[in-house]
Amino acid sequence: MIISVIGFGHIGSVIGSVIASDDFFVYGIDKNNDLLNSFINEQSPISEPGLQELVTYKLKEKNLLLTNNIKHISESDVVIITVGTPLGENYKADLSQLSKTCNEIQPYINDGQLILIKSTIPPGTTRNIVYKILSKNKKNIDVVFSPERLAEGNAINELKTLPIIVGGINNKASERASEFWKKSIDVETIIVKSAETSEFVKLANNAWIDLNIALAHDLARLSDTLDHDIDIIEVISAANSLKKGNSNVNILAPSNGVGGYCLTKDPWFLYTLGKEKGIELETIKSGRVSNDIMPEHSSQKIINFFNKSKKNLSKIKIAILGLSFKSNSGDIRFTPVLPFIEKMKKAGFKNFSYFDDLVTSNDLKKMNIKTNKYILDTIKGADCIVFMAAHNEILNLKIEDIANYSNDSALIFDGRRYFTRHEIDQIKNLNLNYTGIGR
Ligand SMILES: NC(=O)c1ccc[n+]([C@@H]2O[C@H](COP(=O)([O-])OP(=O)(O)OC[C@H]3O[C@@H](n4cnc5c(N)ncnc54)[C@H](O)[C@@H]3O)[C@@H](O)[C@H]2O)c1
Repeated sequence: MIISVIGFGHIGSVIGSVIASDDFFVYGIDKNNDLLNSFINEQSPISEPGLQELVTYKLKEKNLLLTNNIKHISESDVVIITVGTPLGENYKADLSQLSKTCNEIQPYINDGQLILIKSTIPPGTTRNIVYKILSKNKKNIDVVFSPERLAEGNAINELKTLPIIVGGINNKASERASEFWKKSIDVETIIVKSAETSEFVKLANNAWIDLNIALAHDLARLSDTLDHDIDIIEVISAANSLKKGNSNVNILAPSNGVGGYCLTKDPWFLYTLGKEKGIELETIKSGRVSNDIMPEHSSQKIINFFNKSKKNLSKIKIAILGLSFKSNSGDIRFTPVLPFIEKMKKAGFKNFSYFDDLVTSNDLKKMNIKTNKYILDTIKGADCIVFMAAHNEILNLKIEDIANYSNDSALIFDGRRYFTRHEIDQIKNLNLNYTGIGR
């Protein structure tokens, strides 16, 4: 079977390289030649554990071919669309990449093809935009929406294990897509009533995650203002022991905020859809707002600490560990670490050192940030060590090394490493200060 994956970015590259095999030959199609060449030259443009190795292997086995030529669509049995759907004007979904792609491939679409949409889109898009454009001259095509729900940092494993939701423009399309996913990735599929239901599932998933984290952030900010010795991580862990319905309460962990390409936009897709229909989805909006407050909250905690010491802020060395938006991923899209740094600079801090072994050199250039190669060089002589991600290397940094390399009485700011109570005691016994989000 021949498969075309259009949009070989963060999602398309994972799907394309996982599916590619002796039975499923994959064309990874992208208009960005730099991106394709980076994969071919084994310099992954996307920092995802195991991805470059998988792409290289599938290229060598000749199960995968990377190209910018969309004409290969005409040879394909299945076409998977994974182009970007960013946040557009007035918080609406910008569907221009998707409609442009559909118009470009339409002349190469053949009867009998199965078209699978993976890009996140508002309900109605598969039928009213994708199917409408692609079926202009060819009526016998099957079009299906299957949301991509994997999480970066563990993408390959999640793609191979998460159930895939299938919602077609009719039952025949859904059955065919379900069969395809089972054979190509060997995962469970869940067929829902329609393409629209399937589109809604993805947005419901991301609204839940964003709101859940917003709750954790609200609880953490409140905990930070109370004059009691409360550690929000302990509160959440204990609160999560409560059984409710068929599962437990599951409050996620607070951090410096929410970033990435999905949670920062998908809840807005729902919110604007509500607005268009005349309803105000206050909860969804307030979740976004609560999450966006966090870089301000983190920076303010550090500023307050150093203001008390009456030190000149410009002389204080701040070591930032982790720049990406989540642990064990190098993705810097909408990372909340950047607004945090901006707020720190605005307050008067000037002396920063950075470590992130997962962010690509291209992305570091985009951010105009130079990182240290070694974590110990980064924390050497630091007055404040800020944990913004828990990549393996950051997680493995020993407390004794923190004490040995940083300055006396340095502040450890826990934005995401989630030190245990025992470790916090250790930190304090080594003459260091500790604070964190809600801790
Ligand atoms: N990144 C995630 O974790 C994630 C998770 C779930 C769902 N999604 C959704 O998946 C979709 C893709 O996200 P992504 O992070 O992979 O985006 P991305 O920007 O990394 O990749 C999209 C790719 O599509 C290419 N492209 C755009 N128009 C094209 C065209 N006409 N022809 C050929 N190539 C074209 C771009 O060059 C780009 O490389 C989005 O809708 C996103 O919301 C992303």
